[in-house]
Amino acid sequence: MQVRVSNQNLKNIEADALYLAVFEDKSLSEKMVQLDKQLNSALSDFLKLKEFKGKLYETAVLYPQGLNFQRLILVGMGKEEDFEAPRMTKNVAGAAAKRAIKLGVKKLATLLNHPEETAGVVEGVGLASFDAGMHKTKKEKLEIQELILVGADEKVVGEAQAAAETINWVRHLIAEPANLMTPARVVEEAKKIAKTYKLGIEIIDEKEAKKRKMGAFLAIAQGSDESSYMIVLHYKAPKPGKTVLGIVGKGITFDSGGISIKPSAKMADMKMDMSGAAAMLGIMKLVGEFKPNLDIIGIAPVTENMPSGKAAKPGDVFKSLSGRTIEILNTDAEGRVVMSDAFTYVQKLGAKKIFELSTLTGAVNVALGPEATAIIGSSQEWVDTVISAGKRAGERIWQLPIYSEHKEMLKSDIADLANIPPTRAADVIAGGVFLGEFVEKENDWAHLDIGATAWLEGDKPYLTKGPTGVGIETALALIKALEGN
Ligand code: BES
Ligand code: ZN
Ligand code: ZN
Repeated sequence: MQVRVSNQNLKNIEADALYLAVFEDKSLSEKMVQLDKQLNSALSDFLKLKEFKGKLYETAVLYPQGLNFQRLILVGMGKEEDFEAPRMTKNVAGAAAKRAIKLGVKKLATLLNHPEETAGVVEGVGLASFDAGMHKTKKEKLEIQELILVGADEKVVGEAQAAAETINWVRHLIAEPANLMTPARVVEEAKKIAKTYKLGIEIIDEKEAKKRKMGAFLAIAQGSDESSYMIVLHYKAPKPGKTVLGIVGKGITFDSGGISIKPSAKMADMKMDMSGAAAMLGIMKLVGEFKPNLDIIGIAPVTENMPSGKAAKPGDVFKSLSGRTIEILNTDAEGRVVMSDAFTYVQKLGAKKIFELSTLTGAVNVALGPEATAIIGSSQEWVDTVISAGKRAGERIWQLPIYSEHKEMLKSDIADLANIPPTRAADVIAGGVFLGEFVEKENDWAHLDIGATAWLEGDKPYLTKGPTGVGIETALALIKALEGN
């Protein structure tokens, strides 16, 4: 998508459509009044009909006469007092863009209410243009190819555009089926990023992982016929701060559940179980582009979770890289097992603060649904830093606690730790408790369970169902906050 900032008079804008975002029960802005005059009051007359109320994400289309654009799209911003920027700014733009795309619009223009909306508008329109029909042999390209912004802040366009493009790239990695998006293919993508942006890269294959005693990672990898890898990307800052940030992403390219096999309904969606790893790659790609002043290590264990004659069985015990032993009581709780070695390794490499994205549980969908990502971690200061980065990025993150009683849940009769609790109570927290066991006392960690936010089960007015690329924007805001620290 091309983005152009223009200061032309609205009536001269050449586009397939122009959209305006309006609050519910509010009069038109000065610039909109001007446009309305050029339209012989067609806009205000239409609003008087009250057919379109300006409710959040509501849209309407007008076909004005005598202008250079054929369609005028109105999109609702809801009640002004309920408006939450930048999340809703992005979504309102997305809702307008989705409506435009349905109409066949390729060249979309908009008049911003404030220059501060620029990044949100660019991202919202960019993200709405995502199309997951990658393998359809006959298809029309339904996307916005050019976005014209009137009244925008030109300085932020480049970064917002790069973020949207990278998020869509990540969404494609996630949507790609598991027969194509194998662990080896994820490695290829990591190698491309390392080469393009001159990042350090370490690819640990199973043989090397055995030498290094990554027994937890291998416990899951051993069940798959595909080769598995631990991927590490290093970014060295021009002027590094004191801390080193570790970005850890769960990379299960397909989660069948293993021997504790999942029911077949919706099992196909489990190609998305590498959303954390894909987000890590996207974050490192943007880090390579923006070159922040902070050393960052991205890491992802990438493997399938499959049932086979070689697969881990319930009751099996494995020794993790940390030296601690894990009893796998349920092979479907594989994410925490592979991630434990990634946690240990990233700290060995020097990470002091961990930001981790995993589609770890189905239970997080019961707890929060697709409206918020769950966060669990320590210190509280670090968790708060991540939550507020999410706020600035327009991604909702909600904290769940770890009480001392929760820490008792993962006792094993035979090993240091079991991978699941004896009952299904507090499943999301149990995942966090498990991972927290692999963090050194002096380090900070934040586990984000994106099990319900990485993949939308139904369409939103502003986003197509399927992969979302959640976590990337929070990470970018977080990196900005940490620069120089
Ligand atoms: N990848 C799944 C979690 C998941 C399920 C994410 C559905 C998104 C949608 C994870 O590996 C898993 O299977 N977790 C189990 C844990 C349980 C056995 C404690 C779950 O949630 O059922
Ligand atoms: Zn699983
Ligand atoms: Zn999984």
